[in-house]
Amino acid sequence: MRNVDQTPLFSPFFFFFFFSLLLSQAEGGSPPRLPPRLLPPRGAQGGEPARDAMAPPGSALPACLLGLLLLACRGDFGRSSELAFVVEPSDDVAVQEQPLLLYCQVEGIQPITITWRKNGAVIVDSENAFVLANGSLYVSRFQRIRGDGSSDEGEYDCVAQNHYGLVVSRKARIQAATMSDFHVHPQNAVVEEGGVARFQCQIHGLPEPVILWHKNRMPVNTDNERYTLLPKGVLQITGLRAEDSGIFHCVATNIANVKFSREARLTVSGSHSTVYKDPMILVGPENLTLTVHQTAVLECIATGNPRPIVSWSRLDGRPIGVEGIQVLGTGNLMISDLTVQHSGIYVCAANKPGTRVRRTAQGRLVVQAPAEFVQHPQSISRPVGTTAIFTCVAQGEPPPQITWLRNGQILETSDHIKLKNNNSTLSIYGINQADEAIYQCIAENSAGSTQASARLTVLWADGLPGPPQAVRAETVSATTIQVSWKEPLQNTKEIIGYVLHIRKAADPVEMEYQEAVSKSTFQQLVTDLEPSTSYSFYIKAYTSRGASKASEVTVVSTLGEVPAMPSLFIKVINSTAVQATWEPSIKLGQHEGFKLFYRKVHLSQYTGPVLLASNITAYNITHLDASVVYEVKLLAYNQHGDGNSTVRFVSLRETVERPALNPPCDCMKDEQNNKTSTTGIIIGIHIGVTCIIFCVLFLMFGYRGRLLMCKNVQEQLSTPQIPRSQRSAAGLVLNGAARRDRDERDLTGKQLDMNELERLFPAAPCREQQDKGTTPSRSPPADTQISTLPLDEFSIIEEQPEPPQKSPCGGSPAAAAPHPIPTHEG
Ligand SMILES: *[C@@H]1O[C@H](CO)[C@@H](O)[C@H](O)[C@H]1NC(C)=O
Ligand SMILES: *[C@@H]1O[C@H](CO)[C@@H](O)[C@H](O)[C@H]1NC(C)=O
Ligand SMILES: *[C@@H]1O[C@H](CO)[C@@H](O)[C@H](O)[C@H]1NC(C)=O
Ligand SMILES: *[C@@H]1O[C@H](CO)[C@@H](O)[C@H](O)[C@H]1NC(C)=O
Ligand SMILES: *[C@@H]1O[C@H](CO)[C@@H](O)[C@H](O)[C@H]1NC(C)=O
Ligand SMILES: *[C@@H]1O[C@H](CO)[C@@H](O)[C@H](O)[C@H]1NC(C)=O
Ligand SMILES: *[C@@H]1O[C@H](CO)[C@@H](O)[C@H](O)[C@H]1NC(C)=O
Ligand SMILES: *[C@@H]1O[C@H](CO)[C@@H](O)[C@H](O)[C@H]1NC(C)=O
Repeated sequence: MRNVDQTPLFSPFFFFFFFSLLLSQAEGGSPPRLPPRLLPPRGAQGGEPARDAMAPPGSALPACLLGLLLLACRGDFGRSSELAFVVEPSDDVAVQEQPLLLYCQVEGIQPITITWRKNGAVIVDSENAFVLANGSLYVSRFQRIRGDGSSDEGEYDCVAQNHYGLVVSRKARIQAATMSDFHVHPQNAVVEEGGVARFQCQIHGLPEPVILWHKNRMPVNTDNERYTLLPKGVLQITGLRAEDSGIFHCVATNIANVKFSREARLTVSGSHSTVYKDPMILVGPENLTLTVHQTAVLECIATGNPRPIVSWSRLDGRPIGVEGIQVLGTGNLMISDLTVQHSGIYVCAANKPGTRVRRTAQGRLVVQAPAEFVQHPQSISRPVGTTAIFTCVAQGEPPPQITWLRNGQILETSDHIKLKNNNSTLSIYGINQADEAIYQCIAENSAGSTQASARLTVLWADGLPGPPQAVRAETVSATTIQVSWKEPLQNTKEIIGYVLHIRKAADPVEMEYQEAVSKSTFQQLVTDLEPSTSYSFYIKAYTSRGASKASEVTVVSTLGEVPAMPSLFIKVINSTAVQATWEPSIKLGQHEGFKLFYRKVHLSQYTGPVLLASNITAYNITHLDASVVYEVKLLAYNQHGDGNSTVRFVSLRETVERPALNPPCDCMKDEQNNKTSTTGIIIGIHIGVTCIIFCVLFLMFGYRGRLLMCKNVQEQLSTPQIPRSQRSAAGLVLNGAARRDRDERDLTGKQLDMNELERLFPAAPCREQQDKGTTPSRSPPADTQISTLPLDEFSIIEEQPEPPQKSPCGGSPAAAAPHPIPTHEG
């Protein structure tokens, strides 16, 4: 039987515990009352869950809880998953006919049963192999090939199970000790005095055989510094002398066997010659793949007369360093305690002394690092219906693959269970009791594998509210939908708020975002949506102890919307033509194309529409009459119809009588105009070579606010705006982003156990405690609407109505006076 004391301290439960405590104090003024104890999904004994723990004396509580909260906020959590490996089996080489012992030690809540598997199949206790009382596996006579053709070789793992779940150990690769025959024997050699002799033996074996050399049937004297023994069976003898002549052979030894190679004769001939010889590399370095902490020996033997100078460098120019570096014999490089930084191409160079004559040889060294965890998944307890996130970050060389197991089985992903960030984040959405299990993260690369486990406890309690009722969504506009609901039928007393889940119907589940509202709110206007798009909504009621089940889902589409007004500029080309240009403004919204109209101002009939494709941004109007003022009108359209139009007036006349036109600053009048909500006047004066356009004013109704633009100051004046589609995408992604932030924060381990609830109801005693170090004030979030996420997690560029001082009539220096704008040479 479990009780609250076993709930980890950082559990969100405490958070709400405290929260509801404050609320109850604030509301009733009555002595703090403990909420009923949280119950695990099933009693440890499988019986009726026990409840109603005695409350500790109330007075001491807040301070104590405060302590707990602060503890929780710091976020250092234990690693107990109630079942974890203390000792795991390791890779091993077993000797034929000898006993083999594989270790497995587990800690956790008893009773724990341990079984062993070989290549995935459970090992049934038998005379030959059985599980010891302490969990280890004992194989009494290891056999590479048994009478029945089976083998004791294979991958062994240990499986531990208790009533919380099941964990699987790393896989231990067990191989039989072996030794092949020599496949390279030493060869007879005749070498000049003073030269270099090299003998090599090669043999395969497990474990890797140790190779020693005999000369004339006696072990060679390794104290002689002219004799260098390299791993992999190489013997080098430098500065040969007559007495080095003899018969050589090697001896290979491992736990499986001892073998002798063929013999080879070394003859040291003649005397030291004085003939010049170019430097030459007899043997260069091999390509090596090793594991961290091993030792690498890169061979290099150079000859020549005079004797060449051997040096080593890295091809990438990085220094080789000095620590752990040693030269063996005359030119071999030994690097001990390898790290991944030692990976690289190593170049051995033989230089004729005092010259630039040189020969090189190179070999690649690859240093692998077995997978190891940078961050382990942490056991967590979460209320039903919330999201559980496990994070597991591993490093290694090559970068490890991460896979997840759930109670020992490969985790199947679904709508409800997602893996992200190359599997390092496991998110389980809307958890329920079936998700309670031990989750294991396995990191594996060619250099090794490792595992870590964590348990998910799903908290639930009797008496949670039912799902909110009568959920309805009504389309209000192209960007807003009103969602309303009613209280749940049961257990409404403890409700602290509602969470509205919003998702574009076409988006995957994790793109959902949420808005938290107070318990007294039964409707919510969801804004910043995309036009003609379906959205799905559902609601959960939250109490301090968890969320209700989700309400029914309702799906509603936003209205379609015509495009916004395009901006429009008119340039006079010559006395009979003007060029209309416009911008594929980002706030135009979806548009299929443009319609352009023009007319002489005194006529009622427009010429047009000229239909222009959506990617066109300019049109020349020709054959105009220089003596009259023209009105040019542009609008964007889509399947929902024509958007509002932008109108410009243009005169091609050389002189313009300005009073004849609208007074430039009569904005009130303009504003009261009709549906053509924008008025702009361009007066083009075609004077010989210079054409000056007076930009008087452009008064535009923006998307929400009003923008004042003159053509060449437009950029300065217009506020950057995101188109609606992007904006609402931003709204949605926003959450994604925020969540990503969170995930990232999870990676840093700072806020690992932050719960959705805390996020949604950030009245967060935690936050306030941390920020101010004071008790939260009496304004709990109960009566105010709470924003979904802390504001500092994102920013939206909201469209701001233009500040009043920028009004053309308000006397803003930038805009009050008509601006002469030089355009082009006519
Ligand atoms: C388990 O028991 C065996 C035999 O008693 C012993 O050799 C082995 O060390 C024990 N294993 C561990 C992990 O202590
Ligand atoms: C070492 O590897 C390189 C490529 O990485 C290859 O070109 C070269 O032939 C290899 N050398 C030996 C001795 O195998
Ligand atoms: C993620 O896990 C799946 C199986 O759960 C595996 O097939 C896949 O290769 C893993 N991806 C990475 C990048 O480790
Ligand atoms: C996933 O792994 C690949 C290759 O290992 C890497 O390029 C990529 O950045 C990783 N992605 C994440 C999100 O970690
Ligand atoms: C078009 O103009 C009318 C009247 O000024 C305004 O109510 C409406 O919002 C405008 N429509 C668009 C898409 O800008
Ligand atoms: C004015 O420009 C238009 C278009 O560039 C051209 O077709 C027309 O001939 C020009 N008219 C004069 C009078 O230059
Ligand atoms: C506009 O798009 C159409 C096809 O969608 C293409 O054929 C045409 O070349 C484009 N025009 C310009 C000016 O980019
Ligand atoms: C419009 O006239 C300008 C200036 O003569 C010229 O550069 C441009 O190519 C013309 N555009 C079209 C679409 O004819």
